[in-house]
This record gives sequence, structure tokens and C-alpha cells, in this order.
Amino acid sequence: MTRVVTGHVVSFSGSLDVALDLEQGAVAISDSGHVAWVGSQARLPQEWRAAPRNDFGKKLILPGFIDAHIHFPQYRMLAAPGKDLLDWLRRFTFPEEARYADADYATAAAKLFLKRLFTHGTTAALAFCSVHKSCADALFAAGHEANMALVTGKTMMDRNASPAVQDTPETGARETEKLYRTWHGKSRLRYAVTPRFAITSSEEQLKLSGELLAGLPGALMQTHISESPGEIALVKELFPAEKDYTDVYDRFGLLGPRSIFAHGIHLSEREARRFAESGSSVIHCPTSNTFLGSGLMSMTFLRETARPVSLGLATDVGGGTSYSMLQTMGEAYKVQMLGGYKPKAAELFAMSTIGNASRLRIETETGSISTGKFADLVILDPEATPVLAARHALSQSLEDVLFALMILGDDRAVSATYVAGRCCHGPEAAQ
Ligand code: GUN
Ligand code: ZN
Repeated sequence: MTRVVTGHVVSFSGSLDVALDLEQGAVAISDSGHVAWVGSQARLPQEWRAAPRNDFGKKLILPGFIDAHIHFPQYRMLAAPGKDLLDWLRRFTFPEEARYADADYATAAAKLFLKRLFTHGTTAALAFCSVHKSCADALFAAGHEANMALVTGKTMMDRNASPAVQDTPETGARETEKLYRTWHGKSRLRYAVTPRFAITSSEEQLKLSGELLAGLPGALMQTHISESPGEIALVKELFPAEKDYTDVYDRFGLLGPRSIFAHGIHLSEREARRFAESGSSVIHCPTSNTFLGSGLMSMTFLRETARPVSLGLATDVGGGTSYSMLQTMGEAYKVQMLGGYKPKAAELFAMSTIGNASRLRIETETGSISTGKFADLVILDPEATPVLAARHALSQSLEDVLFALMILGDDRAVSATYVAGRCCHGPEAAQ
């Protein structure tokens, strides 16, 4: 594993800007898969000079992308034409997820799913599984094998879905505990308590979810909130006594710094305040939101300085239409522009790396190219396609190069991906 990777090294800071920009940079990777040294090639310490080297020339070496919300059992059902979220779930998603009751099917799919992440430059993720314990076991096992930072959990859903994808409050809680004890803290894996959303969990199941979150040290909680108008209306019907959608989760102890909510498009002022106060995160999933016609999430509204909500960025495959975090950043740019805000490319790259690492609470091990963290890296070619190459000739700054990549790039721009120092995509990767 020991090697030196050279190229244009770029990394980002928690304040959503460029932290490191070394055109002739080098990253030394130790045998354990950690970054042992990072700096300019001219200053590479003597002890690393004879190490095997992968020279990427003018290509960019970035921290691997982190996808903060993706559905493993939807890995092959992108581009399913639902009328809206609830129609899409019922007609396409639940039947597809039902297949994951079969452990062999799930095991084969987990390998393909992770391969898909790596070919798109994604090295860590917070993922939903299906309701089946075997599905979560399969994904954890594949993540363990890859030595990647993977946070996932068995989905809990005990109503408003077909029987093939339902559990009960008791089986859901029992299997969650079992999975946590088997996988949480093993290599780079973490557990996320995963009630799908308020529509598919009874009060009893939401209550147990809150108890699990409180009782399982270090576990995260992931769910969905305020994605589509039809969903919000149904939540109102199912929970008439609560102030709003956020209040439903709040009542069951599901808000807090370990809680991660996908979408949050239509949150009110009161809800945004509760998110900020409780330290809960909202994950923007722009390609899914435009594809399903869910709405235009406003980063500026949620980040208002008096009550800033922590934000992340994600593909939401298979509601999302691309595995590529580059495409996801490009779509986020367009959605924010429609709301009157023009994000910098560096801001969206920072969200997709160190920002998402902080949301997932894995920022001490990944998310930036820093000594002591794992060498989770993506190599990007700003001239990967004729269109990118032509545009690249006009670029005058790093911001410009990143901007063109996020608007025009996708998996074709990913030359190689390293997870904990091991090349898992690119010329050197084992097939
Ligand atoms: N809300 C509840 N389940 C889902 C899902 O699988 N995808 C999306 N986009 N929203 C959801
Ligand atoms: Zn989702």
C-alpha cells in the first residue's frame, strides 16, 4: 500500500473554501492506508523518495467525495418515471426493494453498488438499506471488505407499504440492535438508526427509534423530511396534533446532532429554528428534487445567520438521477440559482467532502487530505472529454477549473479512486 501520489493536490476547509492548492503536490500514503505526509513535491521527505509513485501530472488530487444520502436497494432503479414522490415509492421503489429479502441477491448487489460509488469518485456514504436485515448485513460486509467509511442501517417501516417491505416495531428494533452490535465500530463502519419517514412508521416505531438513538452510543439517525407537498399533507393527516412535520420527529426524540434528514425543502421558519437549535442536519438532494418535481430547496433560507442549519449534499439515488457528486453539485448550483443564490464551486466541493464528513461525524478520519486521516482520494481529469478539454483551455483559476468540472463532469472525469490508500478504481485497481 505504501506509495506516493503526485499531481495537483486540492483540499477544502470547514468554512467552505479551498484549504490546500498545490499544483506540484504529493501525498505520501502509509502501509495502513493513512496520509503520512502532504506537501509540494520539491519538499517530499527523503524517506519517501524511493517509494512507488503514481504520477497524475496536471490532474487534480482531491479528497474522495462523500455521499450523505443514498439508497443501496435503489442502485439500479434510477430514472423511474413517478408522478410524484408517493406514486414513485408505491409503483417502483417498494417492489424493487422487496428483492433484497434474498440474501444472495443483496450480497451480489452490494458489490456492484460499491463499485458504482468508486467509479464515480465517492469513497464514503450514508446509505439506506431495505427493511430486510440481510440487506444491511450484505452492505456492511461489502463496506468492511472495502475498508471504507460507511454509515448505514436497516430501514424500519411498519405501515403504509406492501407487506414484503414492512417490519413491526418489535422486529425492527430487535434487528437494529443486532446489526449495531455486529457492525458498529468494526473497521470504518458505523450504524444509523433508519426509520424511513413518518408516513411509513407508526407512533410506536418512531418512539422505539428515538429510544434506539438514545441507547446506542455513537449511532446516527437518518430519515426523510419535508420533501413533497403530497407527503407533507399526508403527515398532517396522520399526525393532526403535532405543530408540523418537524414536531413529529421532535416528539419522539429524533432531533439532535446525530440526526440527518434528507431534503427539508419546504421547512417553515419555526422548523428551521428547531433544526438549528437541536443541531440536526439537512441534506440537499437536488437531482432527486428536480426529477420527482418535489421543489427547490433554499440553502440561504436554511443557513440564515440567526439560526444556521447544518447542510450537506447528496445524490439520493435512485430518486436522484446520477451517482456523480460532480453532477449533484452542478444541479445544486442550478437549483440555488433559481432561488437567487450563486454558490461558488469551492463551496459545493467543500460541502461534498469535509462538509459531509462533519455531517456524518467522520471528519477526524476523512473528508480532507490531511496527515493522519485515511487516504480517501479521487483523481479528477479536467480534460476528460472534448467538451471539458475545450472549456478547460479557458480556465484562469482553480475556482474556474472546479466550476467547469461540476457543470460538465461526471464519472468520465474520474481517473482513479483510492479508499484507505487502496486503488479501487482506475488503471491500477484489481478487477
Ligand atoms: N421518502 C421516503 N422514502 C424515500 C425514498 O426512498 N426516496 C426519496 N427520495 N424520498 C423518500
Ligand atoms: Zn432518500
